[in-house]
Amino acid sequence: MCGIVGFVADSGDALPFLFDGLKRLEYRGYDSAGIALATPEGIATQKSQGKLAQLQELLDRLPRGVPCGIGHTRWATHGRPTDENAHPHMDCQGIIATVHNGIIENFQELKQELMGAGHVFASDTDTEVVPHLLEAYGGDKDLVRAVQSAESRLKGAYAFLAMSSRQPDTIIAVRRSSPLVIGWGEGVHYIASDVSAFLANTRQAQFLENGDLAVVTPQSVTIHDGQGQITERPVTTIGWNIRQAERGGYTHFMLKEIMEQPDVWGDCLRGRVQNGRVVVEELGLVSRQLPKVGRIQIVAAGTAYHAGLVGKSLIERLARIPVDVAVASEFRYQEPVLTDDTLVMAISQSGETADTLACMALARHQGMSTYALVNQVGSTLARESDRVGYTHAGPEIAVASTKAYTTQILVLTLLALALAEARGRARPDLVEGLLMLPAIGQEIVQDLEHIQDMAAQLAQSPHVFYIGRGMDYALAMEGQLKIKEISYIHAEAYAAGEMKHGTLALIEEGTPVVAILTEERLAGKTLSNILEVKARGARVWAIVGKTLGRELPVDHLLSIPTREPFLSPALAALPLQLLAYWTAVNRGQDVDQPRNLAKSVTVE
Ligand code: F6R
Repeated sequence: MCGIVGFVADSGDALPFLFDGLKRLEYRGYDSAGIALATPEGIATQKSQGKLAQLQELLDRLPRGVPCGIGHTRWATHGRPTDENAHPHMDCQGIIATVHNGIIENFQELKQELMGAGHVFASDTDTEVVPHLLEAYGGDKDLVRAVQSAESRLKGAYAFLAMSSRQPDTIIAVRRSSPLVIGWGEGVHYIASDVSAFLANTRQAQFLENGDLAVVTPQSVTIHDGQGQITERPVTTIGWNIRQAERGGYTHFMLKEIMEQPDVWGDCLRGRVQNGRVVVEELGLVSRQLPKVGRIQIVAAGTAYHAGLVGKSLIERLARIPVDVAVASEFRYQEPVLTDDTLVMAISQSGETADTLACMALARHQGMSTYALVNQVGSTLARESDRVGYTHAGPEIAVASTKAYTTQILVLTLLALALAEARGRARPDLVEGLLMLPAIGQEIVQDLEHIQDMAAQLAQSPHVFYIGRGMDYALAMEGQLKIKEISYIHAEAYAAGEMKHGTLALIEEGTPVVAILTEERLAGKTLSNILEVKARGARVWAIVGKTLGRELPVDHLLSIPTREPFLSPALAALPLQLLAYWTAVNRGQDVDQPRNLAKSVTVE
């Protein structure tokens, strides 16, 4: 949800970093972009609707050798994606520039007030009230004090950067819920919505906490906490390197992220299994607490929610602990009933999803024990939960989540097995079996030809159905989301046995149906459902566990080389992801940056 960058140095040129940083953050939003540089003569700014390529054409209109600047790539909330609404936004005198991520909820009333005082607005955005407020509070003379005064007037969840041509060696960074991190270099500081923007320059990162206001100069970072007290925040070394955040020869990040999953699974499992047992501490948990968990409440959004559904099945069936899974945007308003023995668990790739964060805040408020399963190290969710387990998937750049999803499934499997052991139901065979997944995954992703064939056909269809039972139904839900979001084909996932209660009416000659069938015990049942849709003319493509597909009357068959259902979900996800990817490519879509979407949903 919008990417912001800042650069302030003793000397040098902010522009190359700002543009490169925006490219790395473009996954956060890409409907318009802009850059402003602070020179003693005034603010120089260029902005444009559309992707960064359009901004790039304007860059030679900006001065070079200016060592202080800010940039923004936008995902529109208030105001259409136009040049006028693109950030940075300025005050009336053109002295103060701001970029912003998040929502300022009371902007209408502030705008009225400021217009009444003679301020002239140039956009429809909520953001523009910030530079005008700073102007009203004397930001041209003392920007820090103006930001502190303006802050008390703003309501909402946001982050912003402000700079002034009167202090062209200072950027003020404010964090109220939306993420911000400062990178430390020699005589230079970088500021960004996430570390991938500056990983090529430094791995030393200082994460701001909620409520922080940082005064950033080339030589210093002074942080005021929510109470206005000067405080320290640790500078940590980021374990990722820049190569992991680049395409590495693939045409799209999504394809790279799909193909690297077998290796990433190795990273995710490393050190977490020993002698047929799960090393609970490596999941961020404490062994002696596991027997006390009586119930688990999972909260998550989108793909992470779908991983939660797989987790429910694994934990309930292996450990016999009841699990509820809720969509975060619903859970937060449900007035949930949580018992004392409930572990509230959030699943999130970014660790910044606004609804998921709100659920965890609610759980903490009720005194619940909280656990976060997160990919982004140092994210808000990781820092605000009692305990955190990392998926170790590395940076996920494509908007459509792939490797974060399968590593979430792996950690959930480890958790289910650890809980099972704590309840006297140990399954060392499955714990050891997990270690085979990277090799089996490698076999699957190498076998692409079949999937490309299927994708070429699917690309011609206006809609598609995904069916399955049990965990296969949870996988079907993820399969349909992948295809929808990047190929824009209408897709629906159905519990296979539910089709005949209404949806079967939509099946006609040639309707594509993807059936997932990885569990032997359900094979006969799902087969009946396949026959039902076949009898109505559907074209059926089946993803099946080893030995299950031999007799299936289907049009295409993709076999997963395992017959163990508890180890199948991550493997079966691979062909689903590849099918979505190649279908979108066939349709000529912008795979990494699908329309209307952004990677990290930091607004409600
Ligand atoms: C879909 C996708 C989204 C995210 C959802 C939650 O491919 O990526 O549905 O899964 O926005 O995001 P995180 O996991 O960052 O909380």
